[in-house]
Amino acid sequence: MPTIYSQTYFVFLFIMYGLLSACGAGGNASNVDKTITLDDFIWPPVAGNATAPFNSAFPFLQFIPTLDLTQLKTASQGREFFIGRWTAAPGPRTLFDGLGPLSIASACADCHLLSAGRAASLQANGQIGVGLLFRLGDTQGNLDPYYGGQLQTAATIGLSEGQVSWSFNDSDQPIFTLLTHGPALAQGIHLGPRLSPQLVGIGLLDLVPPEEILNLEDPDDQNADGISGRAHWLEVEGQLMLGRFGWKAMQPTLRHQSAGAMQQDMGLTTSINPTEPCTMQQTVCAEQPNGGTPEVSDNTLAAVNDFLTLLAVPERRVQNAQQFNQGADIFESIGCAHCHQPTLTTGQSKKYPLLSHQLIYAYTDLLLHDLGEALSDNVREGDADPSEWRTPPLWGLGLVEAVPGSRFLHDGRAQTLEQAILWHGGEALQSQQKFKALTAAQQHILLAFLRAI
Ligand code: HEC
Ligand code: HEC
Repeated sequence: MPTIYSQTYFVFLFIMYGLLSACGAGGNASNVDKTITLDDFIWPPVAGNATAPFNSAFPFLQFIPTLDLTQLKTASQGREFFIGRWTAAPGPRTLFDGLGPLSIASACADCHLLSAGRAASLQANGQIGVGLLFRLGDTQGNLDPYYGGQLQTAATIGLSEGQVSWSFNDSDQPIFTLLTHGPALAQGIHLGPRLSPQLVGIGLLDLVPPEEILNLEDPDDQNADGISGRAHWLEVEGQLMLGRFGWKAMQPTLRHQSAGAMQQDMGLTTSINPTEPCTMQQTVCAEQPNGGTPEVSDNTLAAVNDFLTLLAVPERRVQNAQQFNQGADIFESIGCAHCHQPTLTTGQSKKYPLLSHQLIYAYTDLLLHDLGEALSDNVREGDADPSEWRTPPLWGLGLVEAVPGSRFLHDGRAQTLEQAILWHGGEALQSQQKFKALTAAQQHILLAFLRAI
């Protein structure tokens, strides 16, 4: 019996067997037994120690199974801040006040659903759900002088900055229309749509050493494979840091990412971002009482990040081991793996040693790639061109697809994983063409693989 076969996986099988029998589908369960043999399925767990059995109700809210009581307590406290609803200051709960005056949502979990992963975005009636927000910028990286770098669509007092609606154009690209509640956007400023991603294994991605990511860079395409991933270098507090979070890798660490979300999405100040998301011309921030200086303490910020760090990655949902292995081969052979690198290894974590040196199957290189004109939005962020995007991790994405209304790619234009692949251009054009050239059966196997990872 190959020992590499993960214990978690046995637990998963056991639970699946229970679930299937419970719905009166015991016959399928014996199929599962027959097709997944130990000889076929020899993959290590998807995220090492941070892997948890799949939980169908809250796939994105499983703590790492081996946490001790102290760690569980830390994670549970952080969860309160993540799911808790923040209110304008002064509010009844001082730990939770300071929202706005400009914001988009009042809880992290409004956009990062712990059940479904992605909140509603492009809605059938032409409205935009909270799961899609908008950067404001031009092709040179300038922000809007009045509204700043992000549109806040809610306000605790007075009017928000504006509302966006959408429709598809003839090429099935979403076109966005902004109705501002103040001056029009400055000349050349565009809307940069950003879909809220599912948060899977975010603490593990935070721990991947920069050298490991930089090793995957090939900015001048020296190996002539048409793919030239490059790092997004950011200047943060006077220091050069490697960007890794967000669709354009605009944030270097989980701490910076969460603090950025607090400021831009919720109007909450932190020691990292001590100002409200108002420009000089927007006086409402200065006129309203704040919820402390800063509104979110370093302890609260750390608790939120501990929570996200101690969340487990759902184990693979493999139905057929042979097909899973074939899917992995196709994924490699048509070039998906050039960017969606199957594995990375975490570095050392002093705070959580159980996360150190873990082999993780995230399917990303965390680098920027040019995905072609059709995916450009005319907004430059930092050093990332309008058509450059950070390879998104693919683990858990099948769970997102299974939820009706879920959407893919940075602006949510794709409704299925297949549509997402077909939009790949630029550096990924060859790979997309190879996908199209597969037989229907091969495409089916590749998609089943993506749904299982
Ligand atoms: C209004 C919706 C919204 C709210 C509220 C929100 N986020 Fe996000 N979050 C997003 C979007 C959109 C992105 C992608 C941002 C980008 O591309 O730059 C994101 C990205 C992230 C990422 C990086 C994910 C990745 O794969 O790189 C983390 C971590 C994160 N958010 C944490 C938080 C935390 C913590 C909070 C609460 C303090 C929060 N978010 C509140 C919409 C939201
Ligand atoms: C050149 C690098 C590259 C290659 C090759 C590539 N991808 Fe991607 N992939 C990306 C980037 C970058 C994005 C994000 C683009 C965007 O949102 O506009 C992406 C997005 C996706 C998404 C949607 C993710 C989400 O979170 O919504 C899926 C699914 C996906 N890729 C699968 C594949 C598959 C399957 C292949 C092989 C056929 C492939 N990709 C080849 C870079 C690449």
